[in-house]
Amino acid sequence: MATRPLLLLLAIAAVAILALSAEAHNITAILEGSPDYSLFNSYLTQTKVADEINSRETVTCLALPNSAMSSLVAKKSLAGIKNALRLLVLLDYFDPAKLHDLPDGTTLSTTLYQTTGNAPGNSGFVNITDRRGGDVLFGPSAKNSALTSRYTKSVRQIPYNISVIEISAPIVFPGLLDAPSAATSNITALLEKAGCKTFAGLLQSSGVLKVFETAMDKGLTLFAPNDEAFKASGAPDLSSITSAELVTLLQYHALPTYTPKASLKSSTRPVATMASGASGKFDLSVESAGDDVTLKTGVDTSRVASTVLDDTPVCILTVDNLLLPVELFGAGPAPAPGPAALTPAEAPGPAVAEPVSAPVSAKAPAPEALSPPAPPMGSPEGSPAEAPGAADVKASDKAGASAGIRPVGLVTAALAAVCFL
Ligand SMILES: *[C@@H]1O[C@H](CO)[C@@H](O)[C@H](O)[C@H]1NC(C)=O
Ligand SMILES: *[C@@H]1O[C@H](CO)[C@@H](O)[C@H](O)[C@H]1NC(C)=O
Ligand SMILES: *[C@@H]1O[C@H](CO)[C@@H](O)[C@H](O)[C@H]1NC(C)=O
Ligand SMILES: *[C@@H]1O[C@H](CO)[C@@H](O)[C@H](O)[C@H]1NC(C)=O
Repeated sequence: MATRPLLLLLAIAAVAILALSAEAHNITAILEGSPDYSLFNSYLTQTKVADEINSRETVTCLALPNSAMSSLVAKKSLAGIKNALRLLVLLDYFDPAKLHDLPDGTTLSTTLYQTTGNAPGNSGFVNITDRRGGDVLFGPSAKNSALTSRYTKSVRQIPYNISVIEISAPIVFPGLLDAPSAATSNITALLEKAGCKTFAGLLQSSGVLKVFETAMDKGLTLFAPNDEAFKASGAPDLSSITSAELVTLLQYHALPTYTPKASLKSSTRPVATMASGASGKFDLSVESAGDDVTLKTGVDTSRVASTVLDDTPVCILTVDNLLLPVELFGAGPAPAPGPAALTPAEAPGPAVAEPVSAPVSAKAPAPEALSPPAPPMGSPEGSPAEAPGAADVKASDKAGASAGIRPVGLVTAALAAVCFL
């Protein structure tokens, strides 16, 4: 049976090819060979927009040469630069041939910026117009915007996954570069505005805010539960835990690294939190499907809702539920149910690690006395309204997610074929 080794070889070759093609593109590696784009490439890495590009199945990256890039970054915050970079990543495949063959000579393309949910109107789209005479121009999508960027040359194409082309100038519209920056922001005020007043209050009264502020230089990602999360039926009674446990619980809601939502998606192993250390693992697992990211503690799960601040190296995200570490709350359902009426008292005394009062009797009335005086926030979610076009993006993500699974299935099939011989 001379065909057996041949079949075996074919099966092995199929596995090898599938393993290779399942490998995602890497924008950093693609641009590395071209010194013209070194500044652009370095900002893609710093802002982690590179992770977002690599996680997309089909993208076009509009690369800026160093001269254009240096004018963009001059005196701008990284948060603003990140927005501008995201607007240069089109969620469609445009090679030079397609640019010169647009139906009706003009189109609007969705960009990564649109997927942030922070793009007002259709500002997350880019206008591409093929002028007669061969010039292809790019500009903001707003009506009558000047199209001041020009296609200059092709850099690299991997059909139909990633196309990298050079354009002459950044695409900018008023407001794009005004994202809140960590340096000028008041974290407490940002959290309160995002509907996370309870969390902000606890950070302050426990002294953990200081710990986070100190960590901000090196890297910090906060998962801020919204006010509803503290009132949810499964939420623990915070009055029944010690002040040391409260500090640990709050630190469990932070990573000592800059890990924006798109970068969380690429975490394959559990991530260490600021509570991780000698006293326990205190890690979090991450699951993602398309643009949705879910955190799993081993006790409960929570969706990552919105981005409040994203300014390298600081990122603040909101979550729908409290994250309950196994080390404190066991693997079963959260202990101490009951009406978690305690909201952070705005401690009048010294702020640092004021011990939380001894367990309050379940009958204890007067939750009002403990609540902050302000009325509940009007918009507890604090998440920006989904911008138009987000539905399209989601759909293409879903396609992406299922495409990601496909190679695994094929590899399994090929392995099954091998076993069959
Ligand atoms: C392009 O992406 C598809 C999935 O959409 C994948 O199957 C294919 O292997 C990729 N091609 C290359 C050259 O990476
Ligand atoms: C992408 O390429 C860069 C440079 O070659 C490398 O440092 C990095 O680890 C790669 N990223 C991934 C996800 O493979
Ligand atoms: C793109 O911009 C040009 C110039 O402002 C405009 O004429 C064209 O209609 C725009 N294209 C789309 C698809 O909106
Ligand atoms: C930050 O904002 C909070 C709430 O709005 C306020 O109480 C606090 O004084 C502010 N801190 C600074 C340093 O401005």
